[in-house]
Amino acid sequence: MNFLNEIAQRFPDAVSFAPGRPFEGFWDTSLVHDYLRRFERYLKEEKGYDDAEVRRVLFQYGRTKGIVHELIVRHLEVDEGISADPESVVVTVGCQEAMFLVLRALRADDRDVVLAVSPGYVGLAGAARLLDMPVLDVVGGPRGVDLDSLTSVVREARARGLRPRACYLVTDFSNPSGVSLDLETRHALLDLAEREDLLLLEDNPYGYFSADGVRLPTLKALDARRRVVYLGSFAKTGLPGARIGYLVADQSVADADGRVGLLADQLSKIKSMLTVNTSPIAQAVIAGKLLAHGCDLYGANEREIVVYRGHLRRLLAGLSRHFPPGGGSGVSWNVPRGGFFLVVNVPFPADDKLLEISARDHGVLWTPMCHFSSDPAAARQIRLSFSLVTEEQIDLGLERFAALVARRIG
Ligand SMILES: Cc1ncc(COP(=O)(O)O)c(C=O)c1O
Repeated sequence: MNFLNEIAQRFPDAVSFAPGRPFEGFWDTSLVHDYLRRFERYLKEEKGYDDAEVRRVLFQYGRTKGIVHELIVRHLEVDEGISADPESVVVTVGCQEAMFLVLRALRADDRDVVLAVSPGYVGLAGAARLLDMPVLDVVGGPRGVDLDSLTSVVREARARGLRPRACYLVTDFSNPSGVSLDLETRHALLDLAEREDLLLLEDNPYGYFSADGVRLPTLKALDARRRVVYLGSFAKTGLPGARIGYLVADQSVADADGRVGLLADQLSKIKSMLTVNTSPIAQAVIAGKLLAHGCDLYGANEREIVVYRGHLRRLLAGLSRHFPPGGGSGVSWNVPRGGFFLVVNVPFPADDKLLEISARDHGVLWTPMCHFSSDPAAARQIRLSFSLVTEEQIDLGLERFAALVARRIG
């Protein structure tokens, strides 16, 4: 990913379909102050804190599992129909820390491995690499996870003496593929996890950005058997600069001395050695945003949802215009129901070398899919991100991309 950042810096005038960053058009720095004040009011009015206690909460080292867990639980109830015990929540430094904590807890020795749907998010692979924890690929496919592939990866790993501890996936509008699991697949996946005694690590940063208004329940909302560790991020629904994520880990587990407790508490112990606690000031900003919107992040993101829907439509329309079906370009793409990303298949290798040519000669950036998957098919795929670009940039970027394609196939 350093290469991608470096290329973006070298070609600042290029239209970039590369970063999975949220839209910036509604940002206003005064909101940070408003949110802090809103949280302060909550501490006084709802929690009954005096001025000294409020100062201590904001300025002092804090509770390792976080100080906004009760509001996160309210938000999960309002937005997702998830009833979570506040004690099962750990507020983390971004979802990235949540992934690291879970993997660290699951990694007891060399036999422990994690499974991940491929193509998959690089953050998970990065965290696993830091822990020397092998990641076994599971085919994603058009339904988001291929259950036969998952079963056979689990069984083959066990036959080799490995312990598959969990399978990581993004259920809605995945990064990088844009694919979502349908309802039937969600239920079947939960059954499979129970049957194979596997945890599911459900990561859900994009679920709020449905373009067609259809909202399916998360795995966690359907999780009657505590098979799901839910990984949350406020990077796309709150603001990424706050670096606030969280996890819900309501499983009962035994520690090294055989004492049974919540997985969240085990993760909290690891967190106490990694980041001590998540910045209370950053938590307060996110909590203020939650409070300002009645803990309803769908409501809070109404304008963004409209923007992303418009961008997706514009991108799909532009792709159809430049590469009409039957037009012989050999270019095709998937049609996600929302989120930030879609995948384009091209009839030539699309790697970092081509990206450099694309940036230098055509002024357009995208992400080679080979960064997300070792599947040979990924070598001829690119990810287009449509969250941060404007509609005009989408048109211009596609014109430039079409010129690159014409040059490659011409
Ligand atoms: C699948 C996925 N998970 C998590 C994150 C973000 O995590 P964080 O909260 O650490 O910014 C991203 C951001 O790009 C993502 O695409």
